[in-house]
Amino acid sequence: MSSSPATTSLVGRPLAEVDTPALCLDLDALEANIARMVAHTRRHGVAWRPHAKAHKCPQIALLEIKAGAIGITCAKLGEAEVFAAAGVRDILIANQIVGPLKMTRLRALRQIADPIVCVDSLEHVAELSRAFADAPEPLRVLVEINVGLNRAGTTAGAPVVDLARRIVGSRGLRLAGIMGYEGHLLNIPDAGEKLERIRDALAVLPESKALLEQAGIACEIVSAGGTGSYEITPICPGVTETQAGGLVLMDAYYKHRCGVSGFEHALLVLAGVVSRPAPDRAVIDAGRKCVHGDLHKPLVVGRDDIEVSRLTAEHGDLTLAQSARDLKIGDRLLLVPGYSDFTCVLHDEFVVIRKGVVEAVWPLAARGKLK
Ligand SMILES: Cc1ncc(COP(=O)(O)O)c(C=O)c1O
Repeated sequence: MSSSPATTSLVGRPLAEVDTPALCLDLDALEANIARMVAHTRRHGVAWRPHAKAHKCPQIALLEIKAGAIGITCAKLGEAEVFAAAGVRDILIANQIVGPLKMTRLRALRQIADPIVCVDSLEHVAELSRAFADAPEPLRVLVEINVGLNRAGTTAGAPVVDLARRIVGSRGLRLAGIMGYEGHLLNIPDAGEKLERIRDALAVLPESKALLEQAGIACEIVSAGGTGSYEITPICPGVTETQAGGLVLMDAYYKHRCGVSGFEHALLVLAGVVSRPAPDRAVIDAGRKCVHGDLHKPLVVGRDDIEVSRLTAEHGDLTLAQSARDLKIGDRLLLVPGYSDFTCVLHDEFVVIRKGVVEAVWPLAARGKLK
């Protein structure tokens, strides 16, 4: 988890001395977002297992857990390995783990953490059980249910019971519960319709849990949820935990396409003006390789009069309203990324700022851990 000497030496320096472009994290905003989500989930009596795929940073995961999260969610085994090495124990890998190479790594991971993996077919159960049959500690398994996203996940109802029975009867495995992700319902503009459609989609989770219990199978965890549905998932019947994670960073997509409010923009890209080719145009040193703008355009903090009109590989083109035409080469701007997930993966580290001063530099240690 080491940082480059250039950035580490920034600690204690003002933001004005940070070279551009830089991925910045406003620590006050991050802490406020974490506290808000802890309070929100407690109010609704569900646990918080934030997805770490956006920030990929152990320091952030440890802050979340210290504040009240029960553990974290990861997308990949490789991410889970990084977080476990940093001391996180309770890690849901919200994915299917397949193949002998990964089985060996999963067994090693189980020695330092208590991961949970998802299955949606008997093949997964058979392979995991072969790998864990003689392991000292069992592996926790969730049955992933397709709640309409049509990605991975078994059909709700009887197939869930079949899979669960097989897990319960398999050496080395322990059925921990079920999960589904309502990622196809995050952009519904009408709040009432969004609530209804998510509640309907997730209703298959308690229905499947009831079938399991009728079959005499305990189902402790019912996991679902993301940032775009953070308000709704915890009030859906039967849900025991939410995976919403990106909201600790927040971005323009969550705010303006998913209607998420109440969280601060903790993730910011510091960019510098490098060219002023026309009175109404400026060019910054943050392009597509620095900030993601496909799902939503990046926004310029505090400047409604500046629009990010295009991103090419290394350049961002700005269109300036009359009131912004005094922008000069060398000026610096803070951008809210269009989408945080796809912005963070472009960077090695967060420059962590509090009240305009660099407090730390945190590597995105799980970046690139795609296996
Ligand atoms: C399984 C799963 N859970 C939760 C999420 C939501 O993550 P976030 O809150 O960062 O948007 C996703 C997003 O893709 C996901 O795939």
